[in-house]
Amino acid sequence: MFNPEQFINESIQTLQETIKGRALIAFSGGVDSTVCAALVNKAIGDRLIAVHVDTGFMRKHEAEQVKNIMESMGLNHRFIDASKEYFSALQNVTDPEEKRRIIGKKFIDIFERVAQTEKLTYLVQGTIAPDWIESGGELRDTIKSHHNVGGLPDKMKLKLIEPLRDLYKDEVRKLARSLRLSISERQPFPGPGLAIRILGEATKDRTEIVREACYIVEQEIEKASEQGKMTLPWQYFAVLLPVKSVGVHGDKRAYGDVIAVRAVESIDAMTCAFSNIPSDVIDIISNRITNTLGDSVNRVVYDVTNKPPGTIEWE
Ligand code: XMP
Repeated sequence: MFNPEQFINESIQTLQETIKGRALIAFSGGVDSTVCAALVNKAIGDRLIAVHVDTGFMRKHEAEQVKNIMESMGLNHRFIDASKEYFSALQNVTDPEEKRRIIGKKFIDIFERVAQTEKLTYLVQGTIAPDWIESGGELRDTIKSHHNVGGLPDKMKLKLIEPLRDLYKDEVRKLARSLRLSISERQPFPGPGLAIRILGEATKDRTEIVREACYIVEQEIEKASEQGKMTLPWQYFAVLLPVKSVGVHGDKRAYGDVIAVRAVESIDAMTCAFSNIPSDVIDIISNRITNTLGDSVNRVVYDVTNKPPGTIEWE
């Protein structure tokens, strides 16, 4: 049985023995990186700098939320707005693995720059077991290159520390609860962010569409669960598809984008079952998306695929 208190005490000790200089943590504000930051902060205090990179692919209001989390945890932190750099690096890129490689490499470039300026020697990442298993760890096939694994160059100047490497999501949540972190129940959000929820080129305009659609899905599902219409799914979001379809807008022909709604139940992200969102909630989501994004989106579909054969994100 996984014992969070024992894990916390043992990893603080190991981290104190391993980290001799100053370290940087890639801080996204998700459960994994926040737990990781809390552990390393307990181990080495102010020698840790939490760096949040705003890639431009974060959810609505996420930048303020992440800043608040870093401040409330008393972390020594830096906030880097790199959105222009990311959009320009992803111009004309449509292949999902290529997107992941570019995003991952850019993260490392930015971290190395910060490390040089601030004289940091270690890079701490909140990598968990499914990240490296699905990235082709050991003898396995590559399902997708998780950014915190796939972006690492062969010869990285920073020394890598991954305290949660052998854990699964449910175990990381147990650590978060034990550490009394406010984010313990936050739904997972992928490191490459909304870029992998836009199929095809991740332009600024398409990012705005999926950002708003994700916000609507999150708000309506959370409202429905507060009203007791459904239990909160494990993960729930919107995906922008790379196809257009015909519709009507007023009394005119429209040829617009398609949004897919994805909501899943899982324990460790290795498998999932699609969630049963009540039809009246689906109706509200669909109407709100097409009313709000009517200039571009004229169709909403609901993903009823389990993992396997699907994955949770569409890419
Ligand atoms: P898939 O799509 O592989 O997703 O079924 C499994 C879980 O992992 C999240 N995910 C990521 N998390 N870095 C992360 O930290 C990544 O690159 C990444 N890609 C997917 C996904 O949202 C789901 O919860």
